[in-house]
Amino acid sequence: MATPHNTAEPGDIAPLVLMPGDPRRAARIAEGFLTDATLVSEVRGIGAWTGTWNGTPMSVMASGMGIASLSIYATELYRFYGVQRICRVGTCGGLSPDVDVRDVVVAASAHTNNGCASLPVPGASLSMTASFDMLRAAVDASRASGATTHVGSVFSSDFFYTTRPEVTEGLIKVGTLGVEMEAAGLYGCAMAEGKEALAVLTVSDHLTKDGTDMSAAQRETSFSSALEIAAAALTA
Ligand code: HPA
Repeated sequence: MATPHNTAEPGDIAPLVLMPGDPRRAARIAEGFLTDATLVSEVRGIGAWTGTWNGTPMSVMASGMGIASLSIYATELYRFYGVQRICRVGTCGGLSPDVDVRDVVVAASAHTNNGCASLPVPGASLSMTASFDMLRAAVDASRASGATTHVGSVFSSDFFYTTRPEVTEGLIKVGTLGVEMEAAGLYGCAMAEGKEALAVLTVSDHLTKDGTDMSAAQRETSFSSALEIAAAALTA
């Protein structure tokens, strides 16, 4: 059964899914990282491909930007396509002074200003938390990869263009590693559907360190460590 946002047939999508934000990055992952990847859906320019990684069936599908977009694709993959694990492979802006551009951030948890933490259970702010088994595998793989990796919390914001510097300051004070726009939503969808998720992020820019941003071209090509870590987490 196809969904409004995915024309793949059940069985066309593997139980393990890599999920970048950018549809062009999904195409590059299908071409250069997966083996024998076949296009199985491309509604609204969001391509989904299925192939293998080290012999294990694996799919890649983009989330688009923001929790609203990601939650559509992730919920449908978990609920209608039998997907068990999704690993977001994206970028984040560095917040912590300990984090540098090109480092890898593995999000054990994700703070958010999105309703996914506060709306499902009235009166409670839910913890948006990664799958422990995926997190452990990612940490093990990152030690082997040689990438400088940080494990901790990120902030998943509904706003790229923030108007409140005190929010950034407060997040840095409580040790938040980076800011992006999707991880908390992915963790919330996994929690709602009883499935697993993790976000492995490459630091593409830094909010308080000057002159170190990656160009758009560098962003597209500098994710090999994060991808290896993500695939290891999916297959653990
Ligand atoms: N803010 C939000 N999302 C991001 C950023 C940022 O600075 N960098 C990469 N993704």
